[in-house]
Amino acid sequence: MLFDPFNRRLNYLRISLTDRCNLRCLYCMPEGGVPKLAHEDILSYEELLRLARLSVALGIEKIRLTGGEPLTRRGAIPFMAELARIPGIKDISLTTNGILLAEKAQALWEAGMRRINISLDSLNPAVYAGITRHDLFHQVWMGIQAVEALGFQPIKINVVALKGLNENEILAFGRLSRDKPYHIRFIEFMPVGSAAGCQSDRFLPADEILARLQTLGPLESINGQGLDGPARRWAYPGARGEVGLISPISHHFCPSCNRLRLTSDGKLRTCIFSDNETDLRQPLRQGASDDQLEMIIREATASKPKEHPLHSPVAPQRCQRQMSAIGG
Ligand code: 5AD
Ligand code: SF4
Repeated sequence: MLFDPFNRRLNYLRISLTDRCNLRCLYCMPEGGVPKLAHEDILSYEELLRLARLSVALGIEKIRLTGGEPLTRRGAIPFMAELARIPGIKDISLTTNGILLAEKAQALWEAGMRRINISLDSLNPAVYAGITRHDLFHQVWMGIQAVEALGFQPIKINVVALKGLNENEILAFGRLSRDKPYHIRFIEFMPVGSAAGCQSDRFLPADEILARLQTLGPLESINGQGLDGPARRWAYPGARGEVGLISPISHHFCPSCNRLRLTSDGKLRTCIFSDNETDLRQPLRQGASDDQLEMIIREATASKPKEHPLHSPVAPQRCQRQMSAIGG
C-alpha cells in the first residue's frame, strides 16, 4: 500500500485524459483557450493502462477520469472498459461537463460506468452561457436525463459557487435535490491558474451556502463511507437526492487527503495546489521496468505536501497550470 510521510493512505488516482475542453468556463480557461499539448505529448491509452495497473498493484482502489473534458478524447469509452477490467479496481468514475453526455451515455453504460459527476454551475440557461461561454445548458440537461434513465447512480452534480453569478440559485439547486435523485455538490471556488487567480472576489464560503440551504428546510446530516472523499453531506427529509459541500478553502480537508493526480502528459502531482510534479512519461518511453516505475511513484508520494497554502481565497498564487490541465 502507498502511504505518504503523514501516514495518509493514498488509494485514489485522478487521471486527466486530455487538456482539451469543449467549454471555456470563466474560472478555468481564457476565452481563446490555452496552448494545447501535442498528441505525442499525451500518454497513450496503452501507457495509461500500464500506469493504472501498476497503481492498483500499489494500492490504488479508486480511479476517476477527468480532463479538460475527458469525453472529447477519441477512444475514451473503450479505454474505460479496459480500466474496469483491471483486477483489484473497486471504483471507476468520470467527471464530465456533460456536453457530449446525451450521445455517449449508452456507450458509457455498456463500458461498465455506473457513477458519474457532471459539472453544471447554473440551472438558468443564460447564466450557464455566461459562465461557460457556450449556450449549451439544454444539451447538458439532456445528458443528465439520459444517465438518469439508464440507471447511473449516484449522479453527482458539481456546482462551483460563484458570488454574483450563481449565488441566487443555491435554493433552486436545493429544491432539485428534493425532486430528483441527484447529489448536488457545491464546490468552493479555488483561485488556481491564471484564469481563476484574478477573480478571488467571486469566492463564496461554504458556510454561507449551507446557511442559505437551511432556509429551505431542515437538513439531516449523512455520514460518509470509506471511499467518500471530502464532501460534507446532507439531505432534506424525504428528498430523492442530497446536497453536499466541498470546501477546500474554508475547511481544510488535507489531513484526510487520499489522492494522487496524473496529468494528461504523464506528470504525477501529489497535490492539486502544488506545482511539484514527477514525470512518468520519459521513464515509460525509455523502457523503465515496472519496478523502476513503482520506485518513482513511491518517491513522488514521499514528497506529498502536508497541506495546501490557500487558507483564504486571496492567498498568493502558487499554481501555474490551468485547472483544465490538472483535472479539478
Ligand atoms: N475552483 C473550483 N472548482 C473548479 N473546477 C474547475 N476550476 C475550478 C476552480 N477554480 C471544477 C469544475 C468541475 C471540476 C472538475 O472542477 O467546475 O466541476
Ligand atoms: Fe472545461 Fe471543466 Fe474547465 Fe469548464 S471547468 S472549461 S468544463 S475543463
